Amino acid sequence: MNRIIYPGSFDPITNGHVDIIKRLSKIFDEIIVVVAHSSDKKSFFTAKERLAQIRDVFKNDKKITVEIWDGLLVDFCEKKKCFLLCKGLRSVKDFEYEIDMAQTNKKLNPKIETFFLSTDPELRFISSSLVREVISMGGDISPFVPRSINAIKKNSKD
Ligand code: COA
Repeated sequence: MNRIIYPGSFDPITNGHVDIIKRLSKIFDEIIVVVAHSSDKKSFFTAKERLAQIRDVFKNDKKITVEIWDGLLVDFCEKKKCFLLCKGLRSVKDFEYEIDMAQTNKKLNPKIETFFLSTDPELRFISSSLVREVISMGGDISPFVPRSINAIKKNSKD
């Protein structure tokens, strides 16, 4: 079975991430989405909330599994016996950051290969931090996130 891990903070998941996951599901039999911890980011949604949000988005897609991981990504790869990672690239700026992470992960575990998928050009301006800012100022996030995330925010403001 062909499997790939798609890691991220997903704080929150955006339409850009959803596009990458859907494209991966056309190529792979299983996509393991992992809500991982980034030491330089303070989270807006808790890991459990992010897990629930992503599971809800893909509740009808049996190929997508979602987990939380609090340690090194390479250890998650070893635990799952899956050594393929995918990251989305929006720009050269992303590439510069992502290549360092890919090479660090490979140094930590030479079995790991990182694949990059370019973001849909229509979605490349979206970022989770932009979405968080719009949420915190009471704006409309519906153009940037899946419908269920938008509903969660509306409910929490009611
Ligand atoms: N479309 C739109 N936006 C996208 C996107 C896409 N296809 N892909 C990524 N993004 C955005 C995200 O929204 C996020 O935006 P923000 O910075 O405004 O919040 C940004 O790109 C970065 O994405 P993020 O999910 O935070 O991933 P990352 O590339 O920064 O990596 C982890 C984060 C959690 C995967 C990484 O820190 C990690 O592996 N942590 C585990 C600990 C570890 O092993 N550390 C050593 C790593 S070498």
